[in-house]
Amino acid sequence: MGEIGESIVELRSVSFAVSGNTILDDLNLSIKKGEVLILLGESGCGKTTTLKLINRLIDPTGGEVFVEGRRTTDWNEIELRRHIGYVLQEGGLFPHFTIARNVGLTLELLGRDRVTTDARVREMLSLVNLDPTKFAERFPHELSGGQRQRVGVARALAADPDIVLLDEPFGALDVITRTSLQKEFARLVRDLGKTAVFVTHDLHEAMLLGTRIALMEKGRIVFLGKPQEFSSSQIPLARAFTESIALNP
Ligand SMILES: Nc1ncnc2c1ncn2[C@@H]1O[C@H](COP(=O)(O)OP(=O)(O)O)[C@@H](O)[C@H]1O
Ligand SMILES: [Mg+2]
Repeated sequence: MGEIGESIVELRSVSFAVSGNTILDDLNLSIKKGEVLILLGESGCGKTTTLKLINRLIDPTGGEVFVEGRRTTDWNEIELRRHIGYVLQEGGLFPHFTIARNVGLTLELLGRDRVTTDARVREMLSLVNLDPTKFAERFPHELSGGQRQRVGVARALAADPDIVLLDEPFGALDVITRTSLQKEFARLVRDLGKTAVFVTHDLHEAMLLGTRIALMEKGRIVFLGKPQEFSSSQIPLARAFTESIALNP
């Protein structure tokens, strides 16, 4: 551990099946520190399931997942969650908790004291450009969709995890809000030096944010490479994505 460029998340021949149905099939993936690895693919191809395997919401039915060199099944679950932040589609905020409580939840679970948690919550809200004096005591329904996604990012970063998993975090937002959040996110990840696994079905977003793109189809990775390699890939699904962008630039 600790070397630059070493693999921080690794999937070795990972498969996942539920009652005889194969959902993920022989995934092999080595994610390096500081990468923004994009999981790109159509709805139902297995992107969310792959994220869940990384932070051990589910265990693989075949193969192994390693986080920081250790099998996820060997990690203490609370420790693992401290190392991995998770941003859900639609924010995943608890509606009856204030924004401050939502952002501080992980710290609360880790048993941090109130003063430390409050200070960190304010720092995180500022980091995602939400004024703490204005937003901390509001409830999720009192925020716009874009603001709720910012809160989701703030919460995921609160315990200072090495790895952040993001599941179509900006998918439900209008184009202008989405574009500004994408730019901010790109800067944030670079400045903080986090490793991110970012799920999207939007090739624009994948090209903008990704250091590499893993293209998934029916539970398999059918392409893995840099954005510019994706553009010239002859794999049919990669071409279909690229051509759809050419038609709707
Ligand atoms: N626990 C489960 N039981 C049965 N089928 C599941 C389960 N979880 C996911 N699936 C199925 O696996 C496929 C992949 O799901 P998912 O990973 O959510 O896809 P994506 O995030 O790419 O849209 C879908 O067909 C989904 O219906
Ligand atoms: Mg999904």
